[in-house]
Amino acid sequence: MTFKEEIQRRRTFGIISHPDAGKTTLTEKLLLFGGAIHVAGAVKSNKIKKTATSDFMEIEKQRGISVATSVMGFNYNGYKVNILDTPGHQDFAEDTYRTLTAVDSVIIVIDGAKGVEAQTRKLMEVCRMRKTPVIVFINKLDRPGKDAFELLDEVEEELQIKVRPLAWPMGNGDQFKGVYNILEENLYLFTPNKQVLEDGIEISDINDPEIEEYVGKTSASSLREELELLEGVYPEFDKNEYLAGNLAPVFFGSALNNFGVRELLHAFLKIAPSPLPSKAEERVVDAYEDKFTGFVFKIHANMDPNHRNRLAFVKICSGHFKRNTNYLHIRQGKQMKFSSPTAFMAEKKSIIDEAFPGDIVGIPDSGNFKIGDTLTEGEMLHYKGLPSFSPELFRYIENADPMKAKQLAKGVDQLMDEGVAQLFINQFNGRKIIGTVGVLQFEVIQHRLLHEYGASCRYEPINLYKACWITSDNKAELEDFKKRKTQYMAKDKHGRDVFLADSSYMLQMAQENFKDIRFYFTSEF
Ligand code: G4P
Repeated sequence: MTFKEEIQRRRTFGIISHPDAGKTTLTEKLLLFGGAIHVAGAVKSNKIKKTATSDFMEIEKQRGISVATSVMGFNYNGYKVNILDTPGHQDFAEDTYRTLTAVDSVIIVIDGAKGVEAQTRKLMEVCRMRKTPVIVFINKLDRPGKDAFELLDEVEEELQIKVRPLAWPMGNGDQFKGVYNILEENLYLFTPNKQVLEDGIEISDINDPEIEEYVGKTSASSLREELELLEGVYPEFDKNEYLAGNLAPVFFGSALNNFGVRELLHAFLKIAPSPLPSKAEERVVDAYEDKFTGFVFKIHANMDPNHRNRLAFVKICSGHFKRNTNYLHIRQGKQMKFSSPTAFMAEKKSIIDEAFPGDIVGIPDSGNFKIGDTLTEGEMLHYKGLPSFSPELFRYIENADPMKAKQLAKGVDQLMDEGVAQLFINQFNGRKIIGTVGVLQFEVIQHRLLHEYGASCRYEPINLYKACWITSDNKAELEDFKKRKTQYMAKDKHGRDVFLADSSYMLQMAQENFKDIRFYFTSEF
């Protein structure tokens, strides 16, 4: 296969949803089709159950599962499919945002009874920001749910994207008869509690009286009416609009019953983009360029406490990646070669000799990588990641074991590189502040410091509303601000100025009184 063909056959995507909409179930069915797994139940949900927020073992277990399912690759009909897993729990939303920097497209799963939920809206914002093409899969049609037209309106309004159904359901719940595939002009009939894998019935003419035989008169006539209505309301599917991130094709089915999943997969393979160009600060890099480039979008600590090795997940953006070949680690300015890069095929992790754009390779790392690091064959490039969002929860972190100060410092440093949370140092009293987006992270940090670094930490409350980065061209005003707010000034890991506002009022006053100072709520500006 040529280099070009290798790239063209790759589909690297993420499945996102609000917890419980059916992401894990859908992933599993896709893997079954790909022959990547052979029994249902092989993919474990990596969601952290709501009840388990203070159960450390549970967190550990979940982390173990999530490395196993971080990337799932399989071959299907000549395509190489790479599914990137995204944590559903909102406390780990940043992890999901970062994973979205490594995908070329996304499938959004929506529960047909619940419609668009909070987490889906947030994740869609990230997709919109990046113009990621999205396909919507409306799930759980075997349960009583909302009307299909209503769901489409809801998606359009709440996710702020145009929609175009490419399949159409007949009823839902007890009355669910099946799905008409608009793209292939096929009718798929639903048999409850049976995983249907038969081919659909070809119905090229929707007026074919054969339909009555299968679904009865009432369902047949409402299907015809609805399809007619639909063709009137929605313009014809425009693939370019989809690829530009302006239009979401919509499919319907039931992941649990394996219904509508194959049609989704086939349509996905047909329309979803193969590896797209990637934006670096310096220029846009095309996937088909022959020189290797890639970036780290995720770092996962190893589960084995005896080996403090970590795994850095590198997305290949261009060129042909090869094992034992020298590449330039841009931030560190040094050449590195990797003797055991791993790929994730199905349930197995194995060492590979080469990889292509769209692939994700795991590189064992002893502390060289940070999220966002770029690797190239020598060109000075910096891939643009997704900004860190300003955290919303804060605590002072203190050393609880004076003999282990070094371990604590190292542990905190590495966990921050992994992107677990953000560290700020108060310039007034020198104390360290951990900022997170979810309360669960504090427990994860404390637990991991102890188990992976042998360090004990203690938290102390700090009353903060927001941390925001500040800059100004007006040097005098900036200095004046820093002097007046001296108790509230901190530095982030990179030494940048951060203002710690203890209330929204204080922040508002600061913004009003210091017009020349810019306040940023994401770390990239
Ligand atoms: P998530 O990863 O998005 O959080 O969702 P997950 O796949 O774990 O699915 C959440 C629940 O919804 C599961 O039930 C799953 O079996 C169910 N489910 C998924 N797809 C369908 C569907 O098409 N129809 C119906 N009726 N249910 C569906 P659970 O009871 O929470 O978990 P489990 O104990 O069955 O694993």
